[in-house]
Amino acid sequence: MTWQAERRANGVATILITEQELQRRIYELGKTLDGRYAGRVPLMVGVLNGAVAFMTDLMRAMTIPVEIDFMAVSSYGNSTKSTGVVRILKDLNNEIAGRDVLVVEDIVDSGLTLQYLLDVLQTRSPASVEVVALLRKVKPDAVPVRVDLVGFDIPDEFVIGYGLDYAGRYRNLPYVAILDPAAIKEEVAAGV
Ligand code: PRP
Repeated sequence: MTWQAERRANGVATILITEQELQRRIYELGKTLDGRYAGRVPLMVGVLNGAVAFMTDLMRAMTIPVEIDFMAVSSYGNSTKSTGVVRILKDLNNEIAGRDVLVVEDIVDSGLTLQYLLDVLQTRSPASVEVVALLRKVKPDAVPVRVDLVGFDIPDEFVIGYGLDYAGRYRNLPYVAILDPAAIKEEVAAGV
């Protein structure tokens, strides 16, 4: 099987950000965060499930002491379009009053998830809340939500890989890719 055929079989239309580009940028983000949080111990809050790959690489790109926790909020269901419905599926294990919270997101799309999350976190009296997002979609109708650090601004395409899924799959690809529309059609046709 050629590499093109293998990618197609994986549902990949185009690779948007290679593994090397991701790792290089994440290293830079880690160094920036080391500087910003020098002398403090941020609580990194990963947003499940999508942020897992980014979170684990980002925290290892940092050399200052950090703590980690996770929240799960769902806005999509098994669809390629945001429904705008946000639910807390798993809350933090830690109290965040007085803590420096760093929200780690894989992607800001409509901005609804992040806006909701920031509202929830602010009610808990943290010392600070900042956001680092690996990807941010460039779309005019997105909610104007604050993102302090962005890895990559990307076009408004349905992306998969490096934590990002379509119908629960593709999260383990080491790169970020545009989903092949044929993969959606095939799954619909197969009733998957
Ligand atoms: C995705 C992604 C973000 C959110 C961004 O999560 O991980 O949290 O959508 O979209 P928005 O800006 O339009 O709100 P999803 O709900 O798909 O869950 P997942 O991380 O488990 O894939």
